[in-house]
Amino acid sequence: MNPKISKPTGKLGVLIVGMNGAVATTFLSGTMAVRKGKGVPVGSLTQMATIRIGKRADNNFPKIKDFLPLYDLKNMVFGGWDIREENAYTAAKIAEVLNDKDLDNVREELESLVPMKAVFDQNFVKRLSGTWTKEASTKMELVEMLRKDIRDFKAKNNLADLVTIWCGSTEVFIPMEEVHSSIEKFEEGLLNNHPSISPSMMYAWATLKENVPFINGAPNLTVDMGAIFELAEKMHLPIAGKDFKTGQTMVKTVIAPMLKVRMLGLDGWFSTNILGNRDGEVLDDPGSFKTKEESKLSVIDSILQPKLYPELYKDYYHKVRINYYPPRKDNKEGWDNIDIFGWLGYPMQIKIDFLCRDSILAAPIVLDLVLLMNLSQRVGFYGIQDWLSFYFKSPMHSPNVVPEHDLFIQHVKLKNTMREIMNEEPVTHLDEKSKIDR
Ligand SMILES: NC(=O)c1ccc[n+]([C@@H]2O[C@H](COP(=O)([O-])OP(=O)(O)OC[C@H]3O[C@@H](n4cnc5c(N)ncnc54)[C@H](O)[C@@H]3O)[C@@H](O)[C@H]2O)c1
Repeated sequence: MNPKISKPTGKLGVLIVGMNGAVATTFLSGTMAVRKGKGVPVGSLTQMATIRIGKRADNNFPKIKDFLPLYDLKNMVFGGWDIREENAYTAAKIAEVLNDKDLDNVREELESLVPMKAVFDQNFVKRLSGTWTKEASTKMELVEMLRKDIRDFKAKNNLADLVTIWCGSTEVFIPMEEVHSSIEKFEEGLLNNHPSISPSMMYAWATLKENVPFINGAPNLTVDMGAIFELAEKMHLPIAGKDFKTGQTMVKTVIAPMLKVRMLGLDGWFSTNILGNRDGEVLDDPGSFKTKEESKLSVIDSILQPKLYPELYKDYYHKVRINYYPPRKDNKEGWDNIDIFGWLGYPMQIKIDFLCRDSILAAPIVLDLVLLMNLSQRVGFYGIQDWLSFYFKSPMHSPNVVPEHDLFIQHVKLKNTMREIMNEEPVTHLDEKSKIDR
């Protein structure tokens, strides 16, 4: 056991921005159900996966939750903000992800959760209008109000630790400007109501200022900016993002490495989706779609490395579409048509039709990220948490390295970092014999 950290005994507060959304309410209902013994946390590595310790022959595979000193689900306390004021039970009913039986198991607890008023600006999410919102004359004042919310939540619930996670709607794409480049410029921008400071950035700023780690589950460039990097460094706080890796991109980051390791070529990859939840409606706006598109498009290029393999990947065509189609609600359908080629250039096709449930895939990611980011903070990791790339569609990464998108490399990195945290040897998959030979 790493002497620096031990199993926490207090309470962990989880603040969710977009607390009434589909992802957030599915995470909340599921976590509450699991801790009452009314559900299984399928999809969560921290709750279900094992980790090999030592050599293969040692046969030592503890569960991650027994190996790492993580908070117990029973000691998590929830809160958050939304632009709608319904309690979490009503919000979960509106989201129509979980059925009545599952919601009724935790109805009372969900009903007791009412979001705090949000910081919202329709210029950044065109398809929504908020009523449950804070008013102030400057963006700096809004940040101060959020900071007070965080302090009050911590004091009221007697929390030892806190984590904030953005599960809010996708904001329109904002290119980085000078105002985002440093703490000084950003704070000046907050005072002067700079139009390129979005609500998500204000939540992130307030969170870090209150000494709390921030996770970005949407594709917004919320914490991908110089000012936040500087603040995270100064405060020694971890940040992570962006865009939960759930349906189609999860599949992409498995199939693309398969083509690459087998040296098969790619002519084109056409991905399209239909979904009918509120997220789909927000993404129907071209500004929000652009943010999502940027996040989804980067994936294949960095896996296939066309510059290194021009005969295989130089000119492939990559298209991503998201179509809002209300009848499907949260049950997204993602199609991929992949035109590949093999020996002597002979063409082949792969077709994938993934009938997934968006929030069912996202909820365990929220749970793992919250627990692991808190661990990062207690261990003393700060800045961008590359080791959590596994969970993100467009993982933030240190400026001097390319992002790693391959799901299985991300998985090895995740588990080896867990081993490192606990002073255990990384697993290299080299046999004893090959080590001797070398
Ligand atoms: N479900 C997935 O598989 C998945 C995967 C990757 C990323 N995401 C992202 O996660 C986010 C949430 O997805 P969802 O399906 O729950 O969407 P949703 O529309 O159901 O929920 C978003 C919530 O955010 C609230 N909100 C918007 N702006 C806010 C603000 N400024 N402050 C507080 N609350 C605000 C909305 O009122 C809504 O309740 C989206 O950005 C989505 O793109 C989802």
